[in-house]
Amino acid sequence: VTQSPTQMRRMLPADMVERGGCPFDPPSGVRQRRDQGAIQPLKLLNGAPTWLVVGLPEARAILADPRFSSDRVRYPDVTTLQPHEVEQLAAAARNGGPAAGVEPKVESRTDGMFVFMDPPEHTRLRRLLTGQFTVRRMKALESRLREIAVEHIEAMRAAGTEADLVPAYALPIPSLAICELLGVDYADRAEFQERTAIALNSETPDDERARAGLELYGFIQGLVAAKRAQAGDDILSGLVHDADPPLTDAQLTDVALVLLGAGHETTANMLGLGTFALLEHPEQLAALRADPALMDNAIEELLRYLSIIQMGVSRVAIEDVTVAGVRIPAGATVIIATPEVNRDTRHWDDPDRLDVHRPRSTHLAFGHGIHQCLGQQLARAEMKVGLSELITRLPDLRLAVPAEQVPLRNEMLIFGVHSLPVTWA
Ligand code: HEM
Repeated sequence: VTQSPTQMRRMLPADMVERGGCPFDPPSGVRQRRDQGAIQPLKLLNGAPTWLVVGLPEARAILADPRFSSDRVRYPDVTTLQPHEVEQLAAAARNGGPAAGVEPKVESRTDGMFVFMDPPEHTRLRRLLTGQFTVRRMKALESRLREIAVEHIEAMRAAGTEADLVPAYALPIPSLAICELLGVDYADRAEFQERTAIALNSETPDDERARAGLELYGFIQGLVAAKRAQAGDDILSGLVHDADPPLTDAQLTDVALVLLGAGHETTANMLGLGTFALLEHPEQLAALRADPALMDNAIEELLRYLSIIQMGVSRVAIEDVTVAGVRIPAGATVIIATPEVNRDTRHWDDPDRLDVHRPRSTHLAFGHGIHQCLGQQLARAEMKVGLSELITRLPDLRLAVPAEQVPLRNEMLIFGVHSLPVTWA
């Protein structure tokens, strides 16, 4: 929670970060690199040699291959290294030492950050958690989501005819969804939301975010203790009482933090940026209003077209691997450029066009392989309820500022809008 989410973006050349022209298209530097191959070398600003992946089949092959690790504890994350550390790794490799980065730093792990784990540790935690995402729970959550969405739209209307959609709508929906999931008491929700907002806001200064992260950690520790004492009908209670052998308090706290970290800013940005994209494509919005049955399709298309996880999906090769004829050496970090992968011209016709009628097909917005997004059904439900209620209850919703003035999250690991001033009659 306390690691800087902007770190990797700071390591990228500026042309791979800044979006020009259409705010929904990948940065020009990423687009230009597409011509140099689906997998290509990329030197980060700290000097670390990495591999950039911009093709769909190549990205899927890598994400399905157990020779590529997600383990950020065993293998160094080169995006966080200082230039002298990168040089030390390279020098060690030149001198016949272990290939840079493949020497595990720890033998066993006892934490619960399963998104950064490999099998078998990942498998156990993931299985425990998928067992908790039952159809019954998801159904109950969906009707709560609708109440939450409607309450927030009514509050916006009661306050006037203008609002910043990000704090008024896009952030509270996923935050309250996670409260439902983890069984946070109503009385504690304001405090939970406030700490989450600070700890997970990539704009918060590092020290303040670290402090809020610790407070959030303490809050979740308290929640775990409360669920041990008295089980509720939530996922966290399920994990506390169903796991055999039981999970430690530290593991449970980490798992709850993974859910929070993975499910909060992601969905919030899909709601904010998704609304912006629809307002900027009025013919698509009109088609959706005319035929609400198109919503499921539109959500898949928005996920593909917007691909908000800009450069966050990465892996380390733990042995030499050849993918699509390109040899990736052991120790190399591979970065999947999801926004470009999801515009692969070999897979989609005219991929730069947003088209809510486009037939559904495989995309990489939720990743692929064993780490594929665990919360994707919840995310889809949040987007479906969130976008449908918004466009039906505010039929003349529009931007309150010129589109060029909407501040974009260019430099953030998760793309989106910092704010979205909107108005209605
Ligand atoms: C993993 C995207 C919403 C929970 C992932 C991954 C992606 C992703 C790309 C794969 C990461 C990797 O392979 O390294 C998204 C997007 C979302 C979203 C675009 C919103 C539209 C959610 C929600 C939750 C969630 C709502 C749950 C509350 C997770 C978890 C993982 C994950 C737990 C790790 C799974 C594992 O390592 O096995 N997500 N996600 N996500 N997501 Fe999501």
